[in-house]
Amino acid sequence: MHHPVDANALNEALDQAAELLRPARKVAVLTGAGISAESGLATFRGSNGLWEGHRIEEVATPEAFRRDPVLVWRFYHLRRANLATVQPNPGHHALAALEQRLGAGFTLVTQNVDGLHQAAGSKNILEVHGAIRRVKCSGCLRVTDRGVAALPEMPRCAECDALERPDVVWFGEALPEAIWEQAVKAVLSCECFLVVGTSAVVYPAAGLIDLARTGGSAVIEVNVERSAASAQVDVLLLGPSGTVLPELVKRL
Ligand code: APR
Repeated sequence: MHHPVDANALNEALDQAAELLRPARKVAVLTGAGISAESGLATFRGSNGLWEGHRIEEVATPEAFRRDPVLVWRFYHLRRANLATVQPNPGHHALAALEQRLGAGFTLVTQNVDGLHQAAGSKNILEVHGAIRRVKCSGCLRVTDRGVAALPEMPRCAECDALERPDVVWFGEALPEAIWEQAVKAVLSCECFLVVGTSAVVYPAAGLIDLARTGGSAVIEVNVERSAASAQVDVLLLGPSGTVLPELVKRL
C-alpha cells in the first residue's frame, strides 16, 4: 500500500538526487540482483532467496562444486535457461541512457552475472562477479563464451577434458583483479555514485560504497527497502529501480 506521504517523500528525494547527479561529469554505478528483479530474476537474499532449500552460500562455493558438481551445475543450468527467457527492464535502460549522456565519464560496476546491462546497451561495464554466459575449465582455466545455449549436464573442456565450471566468482574466491582495479579507480574518482538493488552485505563489492565516500563522492541509493548501505548514503530512493531510475534520469 502506498500512502500519499510516501509518494511525496520519494518525489522530494528524486529532486535531491537529480541535483547531485546533474552537475556530475564522472559517475559510477554499482548494481546488484535487485535491478534485475523486475525482469523476473530472483534475488539471492530475502523471501525468494532460496533455491530448492539451499542458501546461495551453499551452492556458490568451490567446496560445493568439489562436493557435488551435479547439484551446482543444476543450479547454473537453470539460471542459464532462465536467462534465455528474460529481457532488460526500464531500470537497465535508464542506466544505458545515463551513459549516453555522460560518455566516458560513466562506469557501471555490476555484481550481476546475468548480462542484462549489455542487453540494454550499456557499454562500460565491469562485471566484478563474472558472467554466467561464460564457462571456465577447472583444469587449464580456458574461458569460453557459451551464450545461453544448453550445455551438457557436466560440461568438459574441449582442450584438456577437465570439468568446466561457470565463470563466476564464488564465495571465498578472488575477484578478477584487473576488473576490480578499474572499479576501484572509477569509484575513487567519481563525483556521484549510484548504488542500485544490492543488499550491500557481500564484500569486497559492498566496500565500494565506503570507497566512494572516501573519494569525496555523493552517494545515491535505489532500493525497495533499506539495505546495509542506507545509513551512509546522501539520498535514499525507496522504490523499484524499474520506475525510480527512469524518473531520476528524466529529471536531469
Ligand atoms: N528495485 C530495487 N531494489 C530491489 C528490487 C527492485 N525491484 N527488488 C529487490 N531489491 C533489492 C533488495 O531489497 C535487496 O536489497 O535488491 C537487493 C538484492 O540483494 P541480494 O539478493 O543480496 O543481491 P546482491 O546484493 O546483488 O548480492 C550480492 O551475493 O550471492 C552473491 O555473488 C552474488 O553478486 C551476488 C552478491
